[in-house]
Amino acid sequence: MPVPSTPRAVRVGVLGAGTVGAALLRLLARHPELEVTAVLVRDLDRQRDLGARPVRLTTDPEEVLAGADVVVELLGGVDRPTELMAEAAARGARLVTANKAALAERWDAWGPWVRAGRVGFEAAVMAGTPVVGAIAGALRASRLRSLEALLNGTCAYLIGELEAGVGFDAALAEAQRLGYAEADPALDVDGIDAAHKLTVLARLCADPDLAWSDVRPHVRGVRGLTPEGVAAEVAAGRRVRLVAALEPDGAGGWRASVAPRSVPADHPLAVLGAGRSALVYRGDAVGEVWIAGPGAGAEATASGVLADVLDAATGRPGPTPVAARVPSGVGAP
Ligand SMILES: NC(=O)c1ccc[n+]([C@@H]2O[C@H](COP(=O)([O-])OP(=O)(O)OC[C@H]3O[C@@H](n4cnc5c(N)ncnc54)[C@H](OP(=O)(O)O)[C@@H]3O)[C@@H](O)[C@H]2O)c1
Repeated sequence: MPVPSTPRAVRVGVLGAGTVGAALLRLLARHPELEVTAVLVRDLDRQRDLGARPVRLTTDPEEVLAGADVVVELLGGVDRPTELMAEAAARGARLVTANKAALAERWDAWGPWVRAGRVGFEAAVMAGTPVVGAIAGALRASRLRSLEALLNGTCAYLIGELEAGVGFDAALAEAQRLGYAEADPALDVDGIDAAHKLTVLARLCADPDLAWSDVRPHVRGVRGLTPEGVAAEVAAGRRVRLVAALEPDGAGGWRASVAPRSVPADHPLAVLGAGRSALVYRGDAVGEVWIAGPGAGAEATASGVLADVLDAATGRPGPTPVAARVPSGVGAP
């Protein structure tokens, strides 16, 4: 269904009103040209701050999808959101999501919609800090040489605590108390979340067919780091960071990996990383580009989601993968 070119409000269905969904609804209240069909939740009785404009909460996805021009998925998880978005896609809606896990792991379903420019997913990587649009847009003029990024705020916080001399278990308990880490922190701490985001980026600039199974074996998180080990790097003028990297594999292809690395103290990921997500893109023509900013949080993520909704509402296509695998290790120095 093309979004309407008539003056009628564009209808936006929202799946989820948790941390990000509620913040999105607060931002959507500023946009009278966007009408919310309904909002899917599990618990109708939960207290929520959904902003100035009344919205209809429902536990029935049909109420959200019926008549929606744009469907926004903010549920989390992998299979259920993919099923619901398949239904929305089948009805012709434009899709918006912040769900890097589903994008990374269910490329079989999402790939065709993304290739058709029907999905906005700016917020899936670095929240409202624009990297998806940059990599699928202006940076396309260059051929990728390498990409390194800090893509998980929980790990950045934990490494900061280790640098301050706090033990790993105590740092993790504090991160959970502050709400930075989930009760089950495995997705963050074991590097999976960063790897999901790297997989999403890699398809935009290196290999459109990169599978989650190509990346998953090369993922290691921050468990096992110690204050002593981190302090030794600091004493040597270096810093430990959980680096998501996309690099030539030596055979003309690409290797995507996530692991703790020691980087010089003046490396951009050491300089820019404190409390922020950061990305260093190296392209043959453009040179080295740094992008840094908030990588999570309710408002920052909702900002990226809203940008995609506004694009969808005006008919602007979403980011598409690179057309074919980019050869690695070639191009101007
Ligand atoms: N939080 C961040 O900073 C951040 C940053 C970037 C990307 N993201 C991504 O954004 C998405 C949403 O994250 P979040 O932090 O907002 O999650 P969340 O706080 O857990 O909210 C999830 C929402 O979805 C609803 N929901 C979940 N499963 C459902 C189901 N089966 N049926 C009906 N409703 C269901 C929940 O309903 P109830 O409220 O009734 O429980 C809740 O409103 C995730 O994909 C996440 O990875 C989050």
